[in-house]
Amino acid sequence: MRTTGNTVLVTGGATGIGFGLAEAFHRRGNAVLLAGRREDRLREAAERLPGARWFACDVADPEQRRALADWAMKDHPDVNVLVNNAGIQRDIDLTKGVEELASGGDELRIDLEAPIWLSQLFVPHLAGKDDAAIVHVTSGIAFVPSVKAPLYSTTKAALHVFSQVQRKQLRAAGIRVFEVAPPLILDTELNPEGRAKARAAAGGVPDAVRYSFMDIPTSAKFAEHVLARMEEDVEEIGYGTSEESIRLSKGPLERIFNERNP
Ligand SMILES: NC(=O)c1ccc[n+]([C@@H]2O[C@H](COP(=O)([O-])OP(=O)(O)OC[C@H]3O[C@@H](n4cnc5c(N)ncnc54)[C@H](OP(=O)(O)O)[C@@H]3O)[C@@H](O)[C@H]2O)c1
Repeated sequence: MRTTGNTVLVTGGATGIGFGLAEAFHRRGNAVLLAGRREDRLREAAERLPGARWFACDVADPEQRRALADWAMKDHPDVNVLVNNAGIQRDIDLTKGVEELASGGDELRIDLEAPIWLSQLFVPHLAGKDDAAIVHVTSGIAFVPSVKAPLYSTTKAALHVFSQVQRKQLRAAGIRVFEVAPPLILDTELNPEGRAKARAAAGGVPDAVRYSFMDIPTSAKFAEHVLARMEEDVEEIGYGTSEESIRLSKGPLERIFNERNP
């Protein structure tokens, strides 16, 4: 996959890993489009990436999602890469019943429904375009669930499966499907309550010290790694612990999947 000269839409592109990916694409001479809910963050991010354009929307809302797709495809018809990166994560205590599920964001709609529907909105536009690609950002947690984050784990595992299936089907339309599974990355805004709780439980020891035994990349370093892997046509991209999880997932079941779905 060529990682220069594309027009790339990154959802959740104003912060964290999404901004890292947008910056890495921008550095390589790609045109960059950013989406997210907070206008101020999008404006700030676009100022750091000269020429970048942005569109404020909630990707979990079907009408706003369609408006985003229309904006990208009509105002930026060269768009040929969609990065489904927007996501949320919450710690959820399942012993508290249904109230707990409803208190906060909706992982099922943001982390699962949105990337599925948004990518399908782009399919007719991407079909036949040079270097057309859809990138789904899942997680190492897609392979080894986190008990603290049950809905998040469920959506990421499901998005991993959708990526496998969509990759097979869209090959006929000339659209590549990549899955990017980040490991733990700390310079982002994901799950601030959960992270604060974990920090407090660890007696306030700073993250950098608490995780000093692990190779935790910055968002920027991880993004450079992702683009290098995309250039090598690696379709499932991890780093450190998540790369190891992907490797371990490639057992006999993958062979059976490929045999049943040639
Ligand atoms: N950090 C990690 O350790 C880690 C590990 C594995 C996977 N990931 C995945 O990496 C992706 C990026 O996460 P991050 O860690 O970089 O966290 P982040 O800084 O919080 O980024 C998430 C982005 O998504 C946007 N977003 C959230 N809900 C949205 C919605 N409904 N509509 C549109 N935009 C929305 C947020 O902007 P607004 O709030 O302004 O909308 C934000 O810019 C996520 O899919 C996450 O699951 C992260």
